[in-house]
Amino acid sequence: MLNMDLTTPLAVYVHWPFCLSKCPYCDFNSHVRHGGLDETRFLRAYEAEIAATAARVPDRAVSSIFFGGGTPSLMQPSSVEAILDCIGKHWTIIPNAEITLEANPTSVEATRFRGFRTAGVNRVSLGVQALDDVALKELGRLHTAQEALAAVAVARSIFDRYSFDLIYARPQQTLGTWKAELKRAIAEAAEHLSLYQLTIEPGTPFFGLHRTGKLTIPDEDLARDLYDLTQVVCSDAGLPAYEISNHARPGAECRHNLVYWRGHDYAGIGPGAHGRLTIDNDRIATETEKWPEAWLRRVEERGAGLIVEEKLTTGEAADEYLLMGLRLAEGIDPARYSAISGRVLNPKRISILRDEGAVETTADGRLRVTQSGFPLLDAVVADLAA
Ligand SMILES: C[S@@+](CC[C@H](N)C(=O)[O-])C[C@H]1O[C@@H](n2cnc3c(N)ncnc32)[C@H](O)[C@@H]1O
Ligand code: SF4
Repeated sequence: MLNMDLTTPLAVYVHWPFCLSKCPYCDFNSHVRHGGLDETRFLRAYEAEIAATAARVPDRAVSSIFFGGGTPSLMQPSSVEAILDCIGKHWTIIPNAEITLEANPTSVEATRFRGFRTAGVNRVSLGVQALDDVALKELGRLHTAQEALAAVAVARSIFDRYSFDLIYARPQQTLGTWKAELKRAIAEAAEHLSLYQLTIEPGTPFFGLHRTGKLTIPDEDLARDLYDLTQVVCSDAGLPAYEISNHARPGAECRHNLVYWRGHDYAGIGPGAHGRLTIDNDRIATETEKWPEAWLRRVEERGAGLIVEEKLTTGEAADEYLLMGLRLAEGIDPARYSAISGRVLNPKRISILRDEGAVETTADGRLRVTQSGFPLLDAVVADLAA
C-alpha cells in the first residue's frame, strides 16, 4: 500500500528510438535505419499503446508529455500532433501542460520546428553536446558548434522554453577550456541547461577505446574539479543545479523530469519505455520491448508492447524514492519515505552523514544532499537505504 495521491497529475513519456547515426558514447535505446521506416505503421502502434495504457489508468490528468529518444525531432510534425491528439482523447491534458521534444541539431529546420509548435509542443531540448568542433567530431556528432548554435537560435525564435545538453569531462578537457565553453553556453541558454559528465557505457565503441587506452578521459580528481567548477559558474549566472545534472533559473525546471525524481506516476509509451503507475494503491513498474520492430509486432499482435509489469514491494518503492529524490537539490520528505516504506530513516545514519557534511535537513524538515555530498550520491543513498 502506497498512499499515492491519484489526483497528482500523470506524466507521459513517448520514446522515439531512431537516430541518423549512432554516437559512439551512447547506450540509449536508439537505432539507425538506413532503409527507412514505416512511420505511419509505428504511429498506429503508439496510438494503440496509449489507448491500452489509458485503459489501465483512466481518468487521469496529464501535466507533462516528453518526446525523448533517440531523435524525436526526426518524426513528422503530423505524427507528433497525432500522438498528442491521441493522449488528449484518452486522458485530459491540463491547460499549460509542459510538452517537450528532444531534438538533435542536425534535424532542426525552422519549418519543421514551427510544425512541432503548431502540433502542441511548447518546449524543446537540444542535444548540443559541445561548443568545440574537435570535441564534436570526437563525440561522433554530425554537426559543428556553429550549426548547433544556429539550431539554438531557431529554437529560441519559435519556443518560449528551450534547453540544451552539453557533455563535459571529455577527453583533453581542462578547467580553463570547460569554463570558457560553459560561459559561452550560458550566454545562449535562456532558462535551462543539462550538463552531463561523460560516462563510459559498456557495449559502446567508447568503452572498447577506453579499455584499450585509446581514449583517455579526465581522472577522478579532475572530473570532480570540473563538476565543482560547473556548479560555481552556473550558480553565479543564476542557473543553480536543481538536480545533479540539471540547471535552471528558479521556476524554469523541467516539470516532466521532476515527476520522475519526485516519485510520481508516469506512463512509458514506445519501444523500451519505462513507466511507474499507481494501480489499486500499488506501484507498478512497467517496461516495453526494446527492439523497435519487435515492439511494433508485439503491439500489433497484443495491443501493447509491455514485457515487464511488476508490483514493487514497499521496500523497492521506498528505495526508488530515495534514489531519485536525493538527486534533487530540494531533497526528500522523510514523512513520505515513511508512508511508502512503513519505517523511518535511521536517525543514527543521518546524523553520521550530517557530521560528514554529506546531507543536511532543511528548515521545513526535508532531507537533502549537500553540494559537497553530491559527487558521493550513490554511497549516501546506499547508506540511507541499508
Ligand atoms: C538520448 S540523448 C537525446 C538527444 C539527441 N538524441 C541528441 O543526441 O542530440 C539525451 C542526452 O543524453 C546525454 N548522453 C548520452 N549518452 C551519454 C554519455 N555516455 N555520457 C554523458 N551524457 C550522455 C547527451 O547529452 C544527450 O543529449
Ligand atoms: S546521443 Fe542522441 S543522436 Fe546520438 S545516438 Fe544517442 S540518442 Fe542518438
